[in-house]
Amino acid sequence: MHPTTTAQSAIKVLLSGKPIGAEIHGVDLRTISEADFATIHGAWNDHSVVLFRGQQLTDEDLIAFSKRFGALDWAPVQETGRRFVEGYPEIYVVSNVMVNGEPIGSLGAGEATWHTDMSYLEEPPKASMLYALEIPPAGGNTYFCGMYHAYDSLPEDLKRRVEGMMVKHDGTYNSGGYVRQGVTPTDDPTKSPGAYHPLVCTHPETKRRGLYLGCRRNAYLQGLPLAESEALLDELWAIATRPEFAWHNEWQVGDVVLWDNRCTMHRRDPFDPESRRVLHRTQIKSGARPTA
Ligand code: OGA
Ligand code: MN
Repeated sequence: MHPTTTAQSAIKVLLSGKPIGAEIHGVDLRTISEADFATIHGAWNDHSVVLFRGQQLTDEDLIAFSKRFGALDWAPVQETGRRFVEGYPEIYVVSNVMVNGEPIGSLGAGEATWHTDMSYLEEPPKASMLYALEIPPAGGNTYFCGMYHAYDSLPEDLKRRVEGMMVKHDGTYNSGGYVRQGVTPTDDPTKSPGAYHPLVCTHPETKRRGLYLGCRRNAYLQGLPLAESEALLDELWAIATRPEFAWHNEWQVGDVVLWDNRCTMHRRDPFDPESRRVLHRTQIKSGARPTA
């Protein structure tokens, strides 16, 4: 028994039955013991995405829990040019809600295509945490796929072929298809802004190897003729995003989902633009470049 544990913990980790994803029961994220935090951290490393239901968090609470995993990145500039929620530079708002003719957040009500967060940076955040404040009656589900599993599923010849390759992660568009602030849009993957990362990365904590694809639009395999890069990327994407590999969340108000950007990708279904959807996100620094 852990020497500092006095009360019996109610924490339970329920596996999703998919290659990734687990739901964690029996915790209030405002008051987590060291022992429960260790269980959460272990489950997150083992299952790459974890869901907590029925939470009641202020922005301060969300930031405080996020910081237990590491220092936070500031939110990227929102589509309106606004930097962040007043007073909380760590909070990124995902929302279609309009106030005075301007959206209060990013990503609108359309589909958000498969991506991993902010990988156009040299040091992308290792994790993101999304907290649901308002959820529409239908649509807007978020899907996650596991990139260890994607790599493990490659035929041996493809594994050999991708070894040592570098891939460009586009910095032109966000996952909702909106042009990022200050960028002149281009659809030439060889010329678009972004960061190059190894196509196969080793996770610094789990030491498992995974594909690191970022986002499909404007991706480019360094050194290859464009047509060859496109064909190989299409082949890899088709394997990584097979529906049977993905776990998804049908959001409820009070849900918190924490995912690992180094070994998962995610996408979101569209929803009725007349309904309201509001989530607050934090992003946790990796402090390192992804490495092969
Ligand atoms: C994100 C994101 C999807 C969603 O916050 O990084 O991609 O479900 N959100 O809104
Ligand atoms: Mn995202």
